[in-house]
Amino acid sequence: MNLYDRIPNNVNLSEDKKLQRALEKWLPNYLDWWREMGPDGFQEKDVWLRTAVDVGSEGWAHFDYVKMPEYRWGIFLEPPQPDAIVGFGDNHGRPAYQEVPGEFRNALRRIIVTQGDTEPASVEQQRQLGKTCPSLYDLRNLFQVNVEEGRHLWAMVYLLHGYFGRDGRDEADALLERRSGNPDKPRILEAFNQPCDDWLNFFAFTMFTDRDGKYQLSALAESGFEPLARTCQFMLTEEAHHMFVGDTGLGRVVRRTAQLMKEGDVRELGGIPLEIIQKYINFWFSYSLDLFGGEISSNSADFFAAGLKGRYKEREQYTDHLATNENVRVTIVEDGQLKTREVPLRNALNEVLRGEYVKDCEKGLARWNKVLADEGASERLFLPHPRFHRHVGEFAGHTFDIEGNLISREEFERRKDEWLPTIEDRKYVRSLMHPVYEPGKIANWIAPPAAGIKGKSFEFEYVRL
Ligand SMILES: [Fe+2]
Ligand SMILES: [Fe+2]
Repeated sequence: MNLYDRIPNNVNLSEDKKLQRALEKWLPNYLDWWREMGPDGFQEKDVWLRTAVDVGSEGWAHFDYVKMPEYRWGIFLEPPQPDAIVGFGDNHGRPAYQEVPGEFRNALRRIIVTQGDTEPASVEQQRQLGKTCPSLYDLRNLFQVNVEEGRHLWAMVYLLHGYFGRDGRDEADALLERRSGNPDKPRILEAFNQPCDDWLNFFAFTMFTDRDGKYQLSALAESGFEPLARTCQFMLTEEAHHMFVGDTGLGRVVRRTAQLMKEGDVRELGGIPLEIIQKYINFWFSYSLDLFGGEISSNSADFFAAGLKGRYKEREQYTDHLATNENVRVTIVEDGQLKTREVPLRNALNEVLRGEYVKDCEKGLARWNKVLADEGASERLFLPHPRFHRHVGEFAGHTFDIEGNLISREEFERRKDEWLPTIEDRKYVRSLMHPVYEPGKIANWIAPPAAGIKGKSFEFEYVRL
């Protein structure tokens, strides 16, 4: 473990001078990007952050005050498995790829670049949020997510520099050049070009969009390209906290809203009405579903056949790792009607992964509905139908109501304000966003957390302003 290098790592970077030089050249560009596009206004503040220093299941993180630009972004891979094999697909059982197989080079690079692009994008989307944080505890969590997304970018850039030569270097540079929401050089995936400019957006984003990350990383953690698998396995340990922030953050908003509902009109009392929370759920859930790709996809089949991207918990959950004998029924739109089509399982793997994701999201909804029940409210939150508001795959270009019924575009336009945040909704939520910087204090529209971070109390000074 070389923790004291300029780039902390467990990949023996100091023994690979060429790679070390390449990454040290990329580092100042990364820091320029961080200063330009990272959290605005807090770069010189001490933030109580965890830093990855190891990959062991216990004690992998060190907690202390750090100024964000001095955060030690490192490269950490889970230790190699002796006798690792390609765990699925046409090469199932062969030794895992330690180098990029020539025939899969483009596909692998595309997978890594697409994943890598999401990491800095989310930091860009969230860069103004510190100015309206509901508490110091939340401010710290925001920055924790931000620095770790920065580290995830490092993880992907390590793979690009380490395994893809010149075009890998070019791709690593381009990851710092695209900008979330910029019409001329947007980020690759649409969810990462959507504004995330209030805290309800932030919690919904970390709940639903970071959770897509969990499933993509889990599928890549199965990869037969071992460096990618080991990288993603470790990223998943950090990702868990991001989803915790979203899940509990939204749960706390729901709790506060339910409490205010008992006192009177939520709006008059300065809370966020349940209907608006529901619309934010509808918005981010639908955009996040798009991230899984088309329902019927030859890419998903190719990636699986090549042993590059597996299913969720491929090793643990499945015994048949070839997936050649099964068909799956997929819903499609044909001649203006919903129909089902049988497709080979390998072509439906995006849909299979999306299904795992939806199940996971439903658990979050159940937790929030339990909060509502605990507070004595009879209303319930729900997930929109997966066909609702889609921009990728079979349902893109068609319009559905919140229950998934095919409706005309006119009807959708007429009713969309019932389902998706309106400009007024967004304005209202923004009007509530005033910073609370005093330790132990919290904004009126959200309940305090059940506990602080790592044994500290909620009152702890998580960020020194
Ligand atoms: Fe990430
Ligand atoms: Fe994340």
